[in-house]
Amino acid sequence: MSDIKKIKDDFLLKLKENLDLNQVNQIKTELFGKTGLISSQFKQLGKLAEDERKKFASDLNLVKNELENLITTKINDIETKEINKKLEKEKIDITLPERPFVRGKIHPVSQVIDEISSIFSEIGFSVEEGPDVENEYNNFTALNTPDNHPARDMHDTFYLDDAKKLLLRTHTSPVQIRTMLNDKPPFKIIAPGRTYRSDSDQTHTPMFHQVEGLHIDKNINMGHLKGCLNYFIKEFFEVDKIKMRFRPSHFPFTEPSAEVDIGYEIKDGKIVIGEGDKWLEVLGCGMVHPNVLKNVKVNPDEFQGYAFGIGIDRLAMLKYGINDLRAFFDCDYRWLNHFGFDPIDVPTNYRGLSR
Ligand code: DAH
Repeated sequence: MSDIKKIKDDFLLKLKENLDLNQVNQIKTELFGKTGLISSQFKQLGKLAEDERKKFASDLNLVKNELENLITTKINDIETKEINKKLEKEKIDITLPERPFVRGKIHPVSQVIDEISSIFSEIGFSVEEGPDVENEYNNFTALNTPDNHPARDMHDTFYLDDAKKLLLRTHTSPVQIRTMLNDKPPFKIIAPGRTYRSDSDQTHTPMFHQVEGLHIDKNINMGHLKGCLNYFIKEFFEVDKIKMRFRPSHFPFTEPSAEVDIGYEIKDGKIVIGEGDKWLEVLGCGMVHPNVLKNVKVNPDEFQGYAFGIGIDRLAMLKYGINDLRAFFDCDYRWLNHFGFDPIDVPTNYRGLSR
């Protein structure tokens, strides 16, 4: 029996055994490696006489191809078997109940802040922010509310130090001061955020939200203030007509000052905004006091304008029919699930919702 035939028979037999990947690769090297059996046979070729060489080469090539093919098939088989084994292990049991998926909801206050910001941005207001911890100067003094002014008591301030220099801001009005100190007029900003007063009942919580508005330029008058608020209330409550009244009031930082009421009625137990003969107070406003402008180095003979402060939580309650303010801040997930808003970027057909 020739060497080639012997190699072929031996290895066909070997490759029939139950081999793992390592063993097959070892055989491959034994045959086709640099000093492998088949490789060595090829090296013999040169030594053979011309007439023998052709036949030998052709036989050798046949054996080489046959063994090579067998090895490739064998490797493929082993790999496929391993993948199948893995898949078998990782098989997903589609009869299992799905895992609970909790989708977050947007709090009504955040939703309303977004709505307010986008309504005012349509008419050229930009959004400013200020810190919750304020100094007494920005919160009161610069806003024309001197030391012994009764408004300081009315605000039920949370002071943070004995000297009463640091406090939790009682309104968003100090953002007016920060904005004007930081920049040059004109100013056209709103500033939504958290505010604090020591007060708690069905319509008051120690922490609540306001949005401040400030528009300072040359020749801004009370007509602009009325037009701006009228536009805002109509847009916010999504009504074409609104009943609105300006009631004279007092704020140290505005002169004249007004509180704004909107008309409403109760229809089938629900508040309808813009109709009826009942009035609801929604905000305070006025023309910025010249003393405030002087305090921030703006010349009141050259620039003037209006400011307003709106209670955000109150607006959210009215628009979305929520009647207890305290629930806003109870962090009760069931409440949020009911009154909260779906984030728009979560597809509504998402499987596995908790609802
Ligand atoms: N800061 C006032 C408050 O919290 C609300 C307010 C009234 C703000 C009149 C203003 C304003 O900017 O002009 O009660």
